[in-house]
Amino acid sequence: MTKFKRVDPEISRRKFVNWALGISAGISGLGFLSIVGSARPANRQTPDKLGPVPGDILVHAEGEKTGQPVSVAELERNPVRAYPQGKDKSGKAFLRQGDQQTNLVGISKFPETELGTATNKQAAPQGIVAYSLVCQHLGCQVNWRNADQTLLCPCHSGDYDMRNGAKVLGGPPPRPLAQLPLRVDGDNLVVAATFLTPPYGVAEGDFEQYKQRVEEASKA
Ligand code: FES
Repeated sequence: MTKFKRVDPEISRRKFVNWALGISAGISGLGFLSIVGSARPANRQTPDKLGPVPGDILVHAEGEKTGQPVSVAELERNPVRAYPQGKDKSGKAFLRQGDQQTNLVGISKFPETELGTATNKQAAPQGIVAYSLVCQHLGCQVNWRNADQTLLCPCHSGDYDMRNGAKVLGGPPPRPLAQLPLRVDGDNLVVAATFLTPPYGVAEGDFEQYKQRVEEASKA
């Protein structure tokens, strides 16, 4: 008598087929889960990740005044770095930093006669301009360069003319920095409308949808 059990070939074949079907169903299931997991819901953006919303107040993004409203009186050429600040339904303030800080803006005040034709002057009361500080090339943060009054990107030397619509003066950026329309309210600065052109991270083709989401948020 053998110590190995005899196996019926028909049962063995059936077992194999069942096993193979089970594995195959498992793999399909995993594939389905992976597709579901990677699908992005139509509107996953939380309010802090939206673009600047009309009515937001601009507040200092750094330094000892972090979180305090930017005052008109303190503005000069060297831009103040700021974020829009929104309010939730309970009235609690929160920073609207954008998707990975894409709402960081620089605010400067120039004599109005110095602003070039590429500047949207209606969006720049009293010569106060605000531009996204996120480079349109690959998203580095640009810095003020006093010597020639431009915004220079430390990554690949993208250079933007802050007095003339943040037009590209040099380097690889494909388009100007996005201008943020402002309104003066007492000594505070308020967002009058969201960016006039797509900021970094928003494709031209997605800009209408971006503005629509902001508009919906401003009515909420
Ligand atoms: S990221 Fe600014 S020039 Fe490349």
